[in-house]
Amino acid sequence: MPEISNFIQEPATVVQNESVSQGVYLMRLESPQIAKAIQPAQFVQILTDPGLSPFLRRPFSALRVQGNTFDIIYDVIGPGTERMQKAKIGDTLNVSGPLGQPFQPPQTKRILLVAGGVGLVPLAFLAWQHPAQRSNMVYLMGAANSTRMPNMDALLPQDLTRYLATDDGSVGHKGFVTDLISDHVITTDTTILTCGPHPMMARVAAIAADLNIPCYASLENHMACGFGACVGCVVEYKNFETDDRRYRRACLEGPVVDAAAIVW
Ligand code: FES
Repeated sequence: MPEISNFIQEPATVVQNESVSQGVYLMRLESPQIAKAIQPAQFVQILTDPGLSPFLRRPFSALRVQGNTFDIIYDVIGPGTERMQKAKIGDTLNVSGPLGQPFQPPQTKRILLVAGGVGLVPLAFLAWQHPAQRSNMVYLMGAANSTRMPNMDALLPQDLTRYLATDDGSVGHKGFVTDLISDHVITTDTTILTCGPHPMMARVAAIAADLNIPCYASLENHMACGFGACVGCVVEYKNFETDDRRYRRACLEGPVVDAAAIVW
């Protein structure tokens, strides 16, 4: 059973909070201990309203760490994130974490990073954290249209090869980001890492299975507590040693999972 190590709770100061695409914001938080500890695909829980139960924290993974700060990206989709959007420079948020199991950089010749929407975040962090392996990485990013596609040049390392796709063709390839996968796979020596909407990751997992290559997904399940207590984030596994291992908590045993092992 994974343990929560390095769990930190500290006030984090907002040092940047700006729009990066329609309805999507980047927030930079100064939080020395969490900035030092967090790894790609791990997440923090942010208390978006101090008046509410601590179980109503929201999970966000890190995009990048610089000194004592880390960046998150969030979609404004409800009261919690609306409050975050209104946060001003110098405001303080209660942040806890890091939580969850991180992405480990695979040792294959090609590392294909397949992202959709705000799922861009943990994959970008992996690329920022592992410059020595960046030449093996290809980053594929999908969004609905140009207004929902952030300026990826500002979010990704300059030397990371990237290809974009939009449903309407307003930027990059017209169609799904998954259409691009086969162009960039080295059949014998590729690992796919993915994060994004559930249908996209399910398609990525199916493509990887067809090509017989490993694939790891960072799940974006709804998470309430973030540390294994509420069982609100469970995911069903295909093969399980005992019946009580059929469902596992994405917050504790994930969010990174072997895509071939779970029921999509
Ligand atoms: Fe509560 Fe996973 S979010 S158990």
